[in-house]
Amino acid sequence: MRKGILSIGAAAAALTLGLTACGGESGDTSAQSSGAPSSAAAGDAKPGKIGVILPDSKSSARWETADRKYLEEAFKAAGVQYDIQNAQGDKTAFQTIADQMITNGATVLMIVNLDSGTGKAVLDKAKSQGVATIDYDRLTLGGSASYYVSFDNTAVGKLQGEGLVKCLTDKKADKPIIAELNGSPTDNNATLFKQGYDSVLQPKYDSGDYKKGPDQSVPDWDNTQAGTIFEQMLTQEPKIAGVLAANDGLGNAAISVLKKQKLNGKVPVTGQDATVQGLQNILAGDQCMTVYKAIKKEADAAAQLAVSLAKGEKPQASGTVKDTEGNRDVPSVLLEPQAIYFDNVKDVVADGFVSKDELCTGDFADKCTKAGIS
Ligand code: BGC
Repeated sequence: MRKGILSIGAAAAALTLGLTACGGESGDTSAQSSGAPSSAAAGDAKPGKIGVILPDSKSSARWETADRKYLEEAFKAAGVQYDIQNAQGDKTAFQTIADQMITNGATVLMIVNLDSGTGKAVLDKAKSQGVATIDYDRLTLGGSASYYVSFDNTAVGKLQGEGLVKCLTDKKADKPIIAELNGSPTDNNATLFKQGYDSVLQPKYDSGDYKKGPDQSVPDWDNTQAGTIFEQMLTQEPKIAGVLAANDGLGNAAISVLKKQKLNGKVPVTGQDATVQGLQNILAGDQCMTVYKAIKKEADAAAQLAVSLAKGEKPQASGTVKDTEGNRDVPSVLLEPQAIYFDNVKDVVADGFVSKDELCTGDFADKCTKAGIS
């Protein structure tokens, strides 16, 4: 894994977004709904249209259940025209959607890239046509986005590493063998997550406290492939005693395999995204922790930037992130993640990210009560 791909600029301690020229009034409350672009009449004072491309709907539930919803809410509240589409993991479709958005009058393009290469092509083309660009959640290495909005992804990985250590300590595991199920090798975030958790786990391997077991990336964060990969890991190393899974989907894939061996609950598994499935796995005792990223804050920060850009302003982000491939400091907003264990699953509900109704179904009702979710 490449080191130092992303470092946080000096000013990044201040995570709030400062906007220089946000006094403009939108004068329009009609929001453009997804998938039905319309063009503003000439001379219309409406802010330019904002196009958002989400990556897929399978690598994590978040994109459709959280990001789309919160972005939509923010754009509606600002009264801007917008179009949010999902490339469903298809790189060609990603490019086509971007082209269509620009043809349909988008003046701001926000993307979650499927990999840096195709992301860069889209960003460069948009830029050449005068369209302002934002990297949302994933930094496009060597890209040209004017802004980057995400979480501190190395911190996410650290929480996962520390979480696994905590759960193994609770289980009094002796020299546990650790399996690492990493995210997509083409996602810069996956690299950062790994840097984070390896900064916690490597010293344990070095000291002999833990034994390093199989360590593999999952192409495109594909949950089905993750199951196959983990099944092979467990065959090759049946004594795996802890699983660092990079998100809830990969964690669930590992849990399904562990269940077949009746090892679920005995082998702690990590995750990320605080999905309903991940939280239910925690309530059931099959998953040790997840990382909650308050996506509403991420969506709000990105939407605020996008709206400002659509009004022709030049917003200022308070931090920067280094894109070492492009040797560029990208103006950035980075938010703080939070570790979630059985005892604070209730925080995620209290924050409104998941509802009690969707979480506490069937057998989970009892467990929710035990976890203090009322
Ligand atoms: C995001 C995670 C997500 C993963 C798979 C990463 O870039 O930061 O939240 O679980 O992609 O979609």
